[in-house]
Amino acid sequence: MERKWWHEAVVYQIYPRSFKDTTGNGVGDLRGIIEKLDYLEKLGVDVIWLSPVYKSPMDDNGYDISDYRDIAAEFGTMEDMDELIAQAKERGIKIIMDLVVNHTSDEHPWFIEASKSKDNPYRDYYIWRDPKDGGVPNNIPSIFSGPAWEYDEETEQYYFHLFSKRQPDLNWENPQVQKEIHQMMNFWLEKGIGGFRMDVIDLIGKEVDQKITSNGPRLHPLLQEMNQATFGNYDVLTVGETWGATPEIAKLYSDPERNELSMIFQFEHMTLDWDDEEGKWSPKPLDFKKLKKVLSKWQTELKGQGWNSLFWNNHDLPRIVSRWGNDQEYRVESAKMLATLLHFMQGTPYIYQGEEIGMTNVKYESIDDYNDIEILNFYRDNLKRGYTHQQMMEAIWQNGRDNARTPIQWDDSENAGFTVGTPWLKVNPNYTEVNVQEALNNHDSIFYYYQKLIRLRKENDVIVYGDYQLLLEDDDSIFVYTRNLADEQILVIVNFFKAEAEFILPEDISFDNKELLISNYEVDEDESIDKVELKPYEARAYRLT
Ligand code: NOJ
Repeated sequence: MERKWWHEAVVYQIYPRSFKDTTGNGVGDLRGIIEKLDYLEKLGVDVIWLSPVYKSPMDDNGYDISDYRDIAAEFGTMEDMDELIAQAKERGIKIIMDLVVNHTSDEHPWFIEASKSKDNPYRDYYIWRDPKDGGVPNNIPSIFSGPAWEYDEETEQYYFHLFSKRQPDLNWENPQVQKEIHQMMNFWLEKGIGGFRMDVIDLIGKEVDQKITSNGPRLHPLLQEMNQATFGNYDVLTVGETWGATPEIAKLYSDPERNELSMIFQFEHMTLDWDDEEGKWSPKPLDFKKLKKVLSKWQTELKGQGWNSLFWNNHDLPRIVSRWGNDQEYRVESAKMLATLLHFMQGTPYIYQGEEIGMTNVKYESIDDYNDIEILNFYRDNLKRGYTHQQMMEAIWQNGRDNARTPIQWDDSENAGFTVGTPWLKVNPNYTEVNVQEALNNHDSIFYYYQKLIRLRKENDVIVYGDYQLLLEDDDSIFVYTRNLADEQILVIVNFFKAEAEFILPEDISFDNKELLISNYEVDEDESIDKVELKPYEARAYRLT
């Protein structure tokens, strides 16, 4: 596979609302991001994925866009956006925009027009159906609770929405829709952005009458047309959010010969502790061996035929250190362990804001302290179904999206230095200990560990391009793998749990010299690795020659 810059890049995701407020309105903004670019340069990232900053009524915090060519006033102006792109570029950082084109806001002029009458020229920009037997056209559910159909009294038809009823799905069968979206994408590409993160892109080829929502028959042709009409003419990174992808499906998107996307962002490893039917609101314990299997399967099956993202977090997931690490006495060790496990694999690593300082989940007692539409809909609908407040709060504490959305903890001053006003979502009370200022002043911090992991990836081709092999597959507590390229070998050893664990070097690994690349405890470099007693959440990576 031809080498590309984005194979070697590390991406940092910013959720602008929670990043840094410079106006005192309690909401993060573009100038706040500009202010912190030096911080991101210091971390060493190459790309910023910006969650949506377009004009929006914020029903789903910007994933409901009412003007693709304008910036939400609470985030700033188009001049701020241009300056952000330029200032980032000066630091060698590219900005990738969140492309949300499965749906728009119900306040988008297209939808306002479309709702006016059945024969409005924009009617067919969206998906409308007549009632069936006096009710919904079919039983497709919305991902945000309730049916995916909303009745419009005015025109006596239902429109389709896979997310909130304020996020009507676009009709991708309509060539006019395709054309408008392509033009809008070119508008952004001409500004010099570094690419697109494509929101729920697996949903655009849907066939609602056949109840096919994801991976529909038109999906890949649509992406190939989009590639040709827009980003295929630029050297940019495109990453598709594809929840249900298998490695086979991933190749359809990301095999370079097919001219679709650079890479996908799939969640198989992140849903292993969700109930198969009920999903994230009914979590189950993580099966560690399954995690090894799934991560390894993606490493080997995509090799040379596609490209994957490496991540533990984003704005839709709980904080990894609280989820699979230990956010109490081993917060620092376990955060570093999880980072080690991921950052030596093949793929493009994504760091979600705050992950680099080990930010944790939150536990607010009152539902009124939550903001996320998905959480609020879940709470409202399940209260009706007889769940207790406590049951629902437990689920929200564990998997609610607001865990990831609390403001970034910059320092230990009031509101964690995020705003001088009232933050739109309460700051996590642990900001007095967990904050950027503390991390920058402490050479042993999680921040410097991530900085080192990023540097190691830049300095060692084997981390980007090497072959992967899982070792000690049946071990219940340690995750061990190697990466090989020409005569270089990297050995990664991590203890995934709090209990100490014994590592015995597999016989087929031979070497003359070993060099410790990174570790989350102090290690005597000369110590033999034939047999190692691993401490709680201990992680090490060696170069063997
Ligand atoms: C996926 C996004 O990541 C999520 O935050 C959003 O709510 C849905 N897509 C709908 O746009």
